[in-house]
Amino acid sequence: MDYSRFFSSDVPSFLRSPVREIFRKVDLSAIYSFAGGYPDAATFPIADIKRLSALVLEKYGAKALQYGATQGVTELREAISRRYGVPVENIQITTSSQQGIDVCSRILADPGDVVLVNEPTYLGALQSLRAYRADIQPLEGFRGFALKEELSVREAIEARGGFKRPKFCYVIPDFQNPSGQTMSLEQRQELVLMARELDFLIVEDSPYRELRYSGEEVPTIYSLAPERTLHLGSFSKIFAPGFRLGWIFGPPELLEQIYVCKQALDLCPPILDQYMAAEFMSSGALDANLEKSVRLYRSKRDLMLSLLEKYMPAGVSWTHPEGGLFLFLTLPEEIDTVALYDRALAAGVAYVAGSFFYRDGSHRNTMRLNFSFLDASRMEEGIKILANVIKL
Ligand SMILES: Cc1ncc(COP(=O)(O)O)c(C=O)c1O
Repeated sequence: MDYSRFFSSDVPSFLRSPVREIFRKVDLSAIYSFAGGYPDAATFPIADIKRLSALVLEKYGAKALQYGATQGVTELREAISRRYGVPVENIQITTSSQQGIDVCSRILADPGDVVLVNEPTYLGALQSLRAYRADIQPLEGFRGFALKEELSVREAIEARGGFKRPKFCYVIPDFQNPSGQTMSLEQRQELVLMARELDFLIVEDSPYRELRYSGEEVPTIYSLAPERTLHLGSFSKIFAPGFRLGWIFGPPELLEQIYVCKQALDLCPPILDQYMAAEFMSSGALDANLEKSVRLYRSKRDLMLSLLEKYMPAGVSWTHPEGGLFLFLTLPEEIDTVALYDRALAAGVAYVAGSFFYRDGSHRNTMRLNFSFLDASRMEEGIKILANVIKL
């Protein structure tokens, strides 16, 4: 039976994730995988989680297994409030930051609304924005001409004519996925200035912020413009992604709409997980675990950079991230990383083609490499194979 006539008009805009397709086809443990954004399993605090689950069930009993508040349990909101210095009324718990992206897109974007993104950008955000049929535009285009003019940003845009006012801008300012790059304070201030002049909102997606291995911390966009920023955080990279927990900081008026929207999505975030995350934070175990994770990832990043230096052929360049889980390679113009992929896989190595992170599938000579997942002892062999595939 042909079911297509039953689908809503949103369905043709859905974007299938090529990254998830890779996982469906390939056993990651059987190859050298630089593809997924998976944390190193050694960072999962399994002993703490065993202890916490017993403690939470002892302390909260049936309450930990019951439905709970849509905003999230008070204990977790208070623990987040203490850690990040944000009032409890400005905090909504989400069922992961992917839901945060989706719920923000859902309450803000009508079909055809302009949403600005930093290209390349996170595929999961492109999926949400496409699903709501937003008109996704590169932030760079707006920045470029705003900077050139002596006029204010608004005057510059109006002088050009024909530009639709953006509804919001989606950015990953810290150790971006996929590029690994971090926005400077000046770039953040410039974005805030544009947002205020043109009256758009900012969705600041920051799941990697606490994974910094070098350089100086830069203030969040939320701290620069709390009145027009929705800041998304996640437990996936600082605790464990299997918990599917995150948070949003934002003005209570915006959170109120997210709260109503979330009622229809999942009623409430997982209760047992939230209590465990709250205990994990309050007991100091999160900080201790994070310190270990940062040490491990710093050494993996450094190893990956030195291996690229050692094995990559001339004409290949890459970013030098100060944190996060990824770096981004640019290969000679004539190399197509989408076409190269099957050969790489047959040789036993996986990456994600960089063009998947562009709205229009351009930049086919780029690739994203993850340095967190693969065991350090296997990294050299993996990079050697990848370099040989590129050389052929
Ligand atoms: C930039 C960015 N945002 C959001 C997510 C989703 O994270 P989660 O839903 O696990 O919190 C990811 C996952 O890799 C990501 O890279």
